[in-house]
Amino acid sequence: MRDLITESEIESSLIDQPGIIQKLVYFEETDSTNNEAKRQARNDDKHIPDGTLFITERQTGGRGRRGRNWDSPAGSGIWMSLLLRPAISPSSASMLTLIAAMAVTDVIDKVTGVTGCRIKWPNDIVLNKKKICGILTEMGAEADLIHYVVIGIGINVNTTEFDDDIRDKATSIYMETGKHVKRSEIVAAFSTAFLKYYEVFLKTQDLSGVMDSYNERLINAGREVRVISGDEEYTGVAEGISKTGELLVTKDDGSRVAICAGEVSVRGLYSYV
Ligand code: BTN
Repeated sequence: MRDLITESEIESSLIDQPGIIQKLVYFEETDSTNNEAKRQARNDDKHIPDGTLFITERQTGGRGRRGRNWDSPAGSGIWMSLLLRPAISPSSASMLTLIAAMAVTDVIDKVTGVTGCRIKWPNDIVLNKKKICGILTEMGAEADLIHYVVIGIGINVNTTEFDDDIRDKATSIYMETGKHVKRSEIVAAFSTAFLKYYEVFLKTQDLSGVMDSYNERLINAGREVRVISGDEEYTGVAEGISKTGELLVTKDDGSRVAICAGEVSVRGLYSYV
């Protein structure tokens, strides 16, 4: 199946689809949709509105968390960044990553008919214990004011092979289900699913309204994890998230800690999850 991401293809899939996406900015190729969104958001002349989606067929400099590259070839994935301008405290913005993770999980389950998609805290989406989607959230803010939040999402859709260094832990919708799913259909379903969770989030500006659903999808829940934070490293059992998105871990010595995302790495004891 030939599946092109074009502006008109996505526009038509969004028609009559109530959702978060209000405007589309499409590129055949760009360095990174997160970079593009941030560049345009900072350029006041462009008046980029809340709910703008930046999407491309190919990224030449796709970025992952912790300074990693994100391989983004043409034809195989969804490389997109949602720009929001929420009237919330900058300290709450990182929770939007978890909102996006829930939306993507719902969407992959819906379009594939599989109900096995899980979240590896805070924001990796895994299917059959392999990563199918990553999320990178960035923000422009000063003092108590958010100028923009950019939620960058990479979903491996029709990918058939990965580089050696990630082959054992990365996968795609096609590799796991044998189904070729139209990428524009996924984008449209994401628009609706994200809005549903976002509206719940905005009421309280925390995750209290969605944390039970998040915890149900959390692959780390009840499992032993290794937490690596700078020079510190320890093991414990992950319990679930708090209403502000920290991972609650009971350490081997019985004490309980709340871990913030950021530069912390949480892994299974013997594998990626
Ligand atoms: C991760 O798991 O490390 C996060 C990966 C995020 C990748 C997406 S693809 C669209 C957007 N543009 C980027 O450069 N990165 C994000």
